[in-house]
Amino acid sequence: MKVLLVASECTPVVKVGGLGDVVGSLPKALKKLGLDVRVVIPGYKDILYTGGGGASCKEYAIHYGGEAQKIILHQTTLSDTDIPLYFIENEKYISSGGVYMSPSAFASSKDEIERFAFFSKAVVELFVSREDVFFPDLIHCNDWHTGIIPQLIKAEARYIELKRPAAVFTVHNLANQGISSVDVLFRLDGEELFKSPLIKWDAADDNLDFIMQGILASDVVNTVSPSYAEEIKTAEFGEGLQEAIKAKSARVFGVLNGIDGALFNPQKDSYLKVNFSLESLEEVLKGKSANKKLLRKELNLQEKDAPLLGLVSRLTKQKGIDLFINSVDELLGMGFQVVVLGVGDKTLEDMLLSKMNELEFSGDCAGIIKFDEGVARRIYASSDMFAVPSRFEPCGLTQMIAMRYGAVPIVRGVGGLKDTVMDGITGFVFSGFNQSEFLGAVKRAKRVYESADLWGKVVSNCVNADFSWDKSAREYVLLYAKALKFSS
Ligand code: GLC
Repeated sequence: MKVLLVASECTPVVKVGGLGDVVGSLPKALKKLGLDVRVVIPGYKDILYTGGGGASCKEYAIHYGGEAQKIILHQTTLSDTDIPLYFIENEKYISSGGVYMSPSAFASSKDEIERFAFFSKAVVELFVSREDVFFPDLIHCNDWHTGIIPQLIKAEARYIELKRPAAVFTVHNLANQGISSVDVLFRLDGEELFKSPLIKWDAADDNLDFIMQGILASDVVNTVSPSYAEEIKTAEFGEGLQEAIKAKSARVFGVLNGIDGALFNPQKDSYLKVNFSLESLEEVLKGKSANKKLLRKELNLQEKDAPLLGLVSRLTKQKGIDLFINSVDELLGMGFQVVVLGVGDKTLEDMLLSKMNELEFSGDCAGIIKFDEGVARRIYASSDMFAVPSRFEPCGLTQMIAMRYGAVPIVRGVGGLKDTVMDGITGFVFSGFNQSEFLGAVKRAKRVYESADLWGKVVSNCVNADFSWDKSAREYVLLYAKALKFSS
């Protein structure tokens, strides 16, 4: 089966969030199952100028905004594999500005939408309307950035009377929808697109929702965990699209993300000063304790007999960062040391900074406002517990990484957090989004922590939990088979 994955990020070339990790890892697992899988992402300026653009480049012209536009297709391979990775370069729409135009990454401004509309058109013209580059059986789109592609595939197929590729659409985060003015349709492919009843219906209120188009026009939809697939059918998590999703519910599935076991491996992780094996509990605990000592030095925390609670996250409302910061005093009062690492919304960064200033001399609390993979890995390796108090969470990767590094997760029981953490067995789960329930779970964790035997069992369960991509990749293959059936 020939599959083209299309997305806005792909680790390690471009990563802003978990989406990049998924797009960088899933193809490797699919390849092992025998699929001819390839990936295409935008050729952002940063990639092109750091040599990531790869060896081979070819020029093409595509139609956008009523005229021919030059694009350059770069081809390289996904790191440590022979999986082809393409970048599409275009000076005007794609390759000026950063990876995402807004620093918060998730605002879909007019320019951002135009960029991804253009990128989507280029993908379809290269990989659907011609057969000399790569003609996939199936195009796997991810999030709003690629949401218009299933509609474009159908429009294109009508022109060229080719059997069209099937379309799978994965929702990583329904909160970011890419809401555009309708005029983008004319630049994309006016006439043909307007023949679609779904477009007509969506455009009736004078705007177009890219993620909704992706959901409604693709052959099969999935979210990144089974629980989130159910949650988005409700008003609480559906972001206004719950009725549309319910209407399509027979084709909406949930496939849990995995993590890359080769990348997240405490035994080989070059970011750690002390590596440790996961073979025995004793080695895990010894390794963690050595790392904790060093991290305390690195972050100016005092050396003492206290549990360390870590949090590594984008600092956004989704992640419940406000709830966590508001709980820091109580956490210190309970005898914890606390470490937070991340960047994101300015208001949350400021809130964290002001809390840190207040506690500057406590020696028990550190807040680092940057994206630093090395510090992140050392936090996973050193923390006894790891907090993920999200308002909603499509899957969440940090709780799985934490488990692999022997840090016991304390999570809110929503979406993928609920599907990956078993209360009292591989972590501690709370349900209501409020401080008292969060602190209640922390207290339960601390009580278990105080009994070496019980704690040892929980840590062992965590490091032995299997979150490999192999299982998820097999589920994707089944999903792809469904999509092929529905599209023919
Ligand atoms: C988004 C979601 C997160 C998920 C990731 C990868 O960032 O918020 O829950 O793990 O995508 O699918």
